[in-house]
Amino acid sequence: MIVNAKEMLIKAKAGHYAVGHFNINNLEWTKCVLLTAQELNSPVILGVSEGAGKYMGGFKTVADMAKAMDESLKITVPVAIHLDHGTYEGAYACIKAGFSSIMFDGSHYPIQENLEKTRELTHVAHALGLSIEAEVGAIGGEEDGVIGMGECADPEECKVIAELGVDMLAAGIGNIHGKYPANWKGLSFETLAEVQKRTGELPLVLHGGSGIPEDMIKKAISLGVSKINVNTECQIAFAEATRKYIEAGKDLEGKGFDPRKLLAPGADAIKATVKAKMELFGSVGKA
Ligand code: 13P
Repeated sequence: MIVNAKEMLIKAKAGHYAVGHFNINNLEWTKCVLLTAQELNSPVILGVSEGAGKYMGGFKTVADMAKAMDESLKITVPVAIHLDHGTYEGAYACIKAGFSSIMFDGSHYPIQENLEKTRELTHVAHALGLSIEAEVGAIGGEEDGVIGMGECADPEECKVIAELGVDMLAAGIGNIHGKYPANWKGLSFETLAEVQKRTGELPLVLHGGSGIPEDMIKKAISLGVSKINVNTECQIAFAEATRKYIEAGKDLEGKGFDPRKLLAPGADAIKATVKAKMELFGSVGKA
C-alpha cells in the first residue's frame, strides 16, 4: 500500500524502533524490498536517488513501476516512494512524477537559503499529501558523485528547520555514505542527543546505515532516530552473491545464463540483508 512516510515514522518514533529506507537500483531491488517487507509485516521506504532515478529511465518510470508492483504483488504493508537527497528541481520532478515522499537536501546551501527552499517545498509537498525530509549538516562520503564532508549538524539549525513542519530530519552526526573507513570516529551521540532535545517529536533520519555497528544503531534509535537509510550493504551483498555464482561457472551450466537464474542469488542476498536490517531496526510486525 503506497502511502507517504509521515504516519509510519510518527509510529516508529513513539514505538522506539526505526523504519528502514532501502535504496532501490532496479526492478529486482524493488521487488526484493517489497516482498521482504510484506513477509515481515514491516513498513518500508523505497529510496530513490536522482542518479538511480535517471538510471531506471526517469522518476515517472520508477514511481509507476513501484506502484504497479505494489499492486500486482498485493503488498498490504505501508510503502513510501521517497526521493533521496533531492535537489530543488529534483524534488519538484518527483512530486510531479507521483512519488509519495521527497527529501530536499539543501545542506550545501547557506542555512537561510536551505530554510527558504525547504519551507517552500514543505508547503507544496503537504498541500499534495506528500511527506518531506530535510537535511542539516552534510552527510559524509560519496553518493552519486556528491561528496560530503561528514560534519555534525548545528542543533540550533535543526530546531529552526524542524519548526518549518517537515516530517523527518536528517542531521549529520558523523555518519557517512558508503563503507566506513578504519579510522572512523563513530557516531556523535552528543550531537544526536542535542538535536533530539531541540526537535522534540520530529522523527530523525540516520543516513549511511551500512556498516554501522549494531550497538550504535540501537543507541541511535533510543535517541530518536526513526528512519535508517541503507544502500551500500545491499549492493555489496548482491555483488558478492553474483560473483560467487559466476565464479562457480553456474552461468555456463544448462540455462544458467538466463537473467532470472543469474540474478537470483543476488536477489536472495538483498532479501537477507533487508530482513536482517528490519530485525535490527525493530520494524518487524509493525505494519
Ligand atoms: P549507505 O550506502 O552507506 O548505506 O547509505 C545510504 C544512504 O544514506 C542513502 O541516503
